[in-house]
Amino acid sequence: MAKDNDYVLGTHDEEIQRLGLQHRVWRPRALDAWRRAGFTVGQTLMDVGCGPGYASLDLAGIVGPAGHIIACDRSRRFLDALEAARDHLGIDNITTHELDLSEAALPASGLDGAWCRWVFAFVKNPRSLLSRVAAAIRPGGVAVFHEYFNYASWRFTPRSSELEEFVQAAMKSWRADGGEPDIGLDLPVWLRELGFEIDTLKPIIDVVPATNFVWQWPVTFVEVALHRLVDLKHLTPERSHAISKALADATADPRTLMVTPAVLEIIAHKR
Ligand SMILES: C[S@@+](CC[C@H](N)C(=O)[O-])C[C@H]1O[C@@H](n2cnc3c(N)ncnc32)[C@H](O)[C@@H]1O
Repeated sequence: MAKDNDYVLGTHDEEIQRLGLQHRVWRPRALDAWRRAGFTVGQTLMDVGCGPGYASLDLAGIVGPAGHIIACDRSRRFLDALEAARDHLGIDNITTHELDLSEAALPASGLDGAWCRWVFAFVKNPRSLLSRVAAAIRPGGVAVFHEYFNYASWRFTPRSSELEEFVQAAMKSWRADGGEPDIGLDLPVWLRELGFEIDTLKPIIDVVPATNFVWQWPVTFVEVALHRLVDLKHLTPERSHAISKALADATADPRTLMVTPAVLEIIAHKR
């Protein structure tokens, strides 16, 4: 079984908190995508790479007691967090599966749909994972994705060379770890090859001041990632310090706007 520390950002409590904040920022868009995808009561859906399961819990509410959520991740700690929340809330239609999505057979077939957010960007064999997700979905079933397609769109105005340096270092370390941040560029082609029709393609990008809730999502990532980039020697402690200071200065400057990393929403159904 793969070890928890295989996930590039770790599975410690701070990362569980960060993923929760990230879900709260993105939740309105996820709910909107699921509605347009036709997710509804009685369905069986897979949350592919569910993490601590914030989306799984929402999906469980949509499919209701007659439906079922199959939540898969390789992190035992994340699945423990999901199971604790599930049991605390008295939800009984989520089952969890600890597995390595890069290679494992998926524990389902005939699915009505799948939800995949910020997962294909991390797995080492995303085309293989997509083919296994495709095989697990019934004809007419729907897959919904939120994955980056232009991570380097993450910039600031006034421009910040330090924050652009950070984004480049983050992408470099991500790729060195076997992931591909801009995996959203590959998914539409692969989906067609695997027998899907694309229903909608929607770029999601915001331009926000520090007072906007959306700002919190990328910024909390900087704090987690800087430590890691120094540990992995993608940044020196001096550059990390300069980036931290530039971020603090940008946050305090009322002129600052952040352009967020660009996410591609894909809704596609299996022919
Ligand atoms: C950025 S988190 C996203 C979690 C969740 N989808 C969400 O949107 O909150 C990436 C997730 O992918 C999982 N993951 C990465 N590589 C994996 C693999 N090879 N097998 C299973 N899970 C993997 C991580 O454990 C983590 O939970």
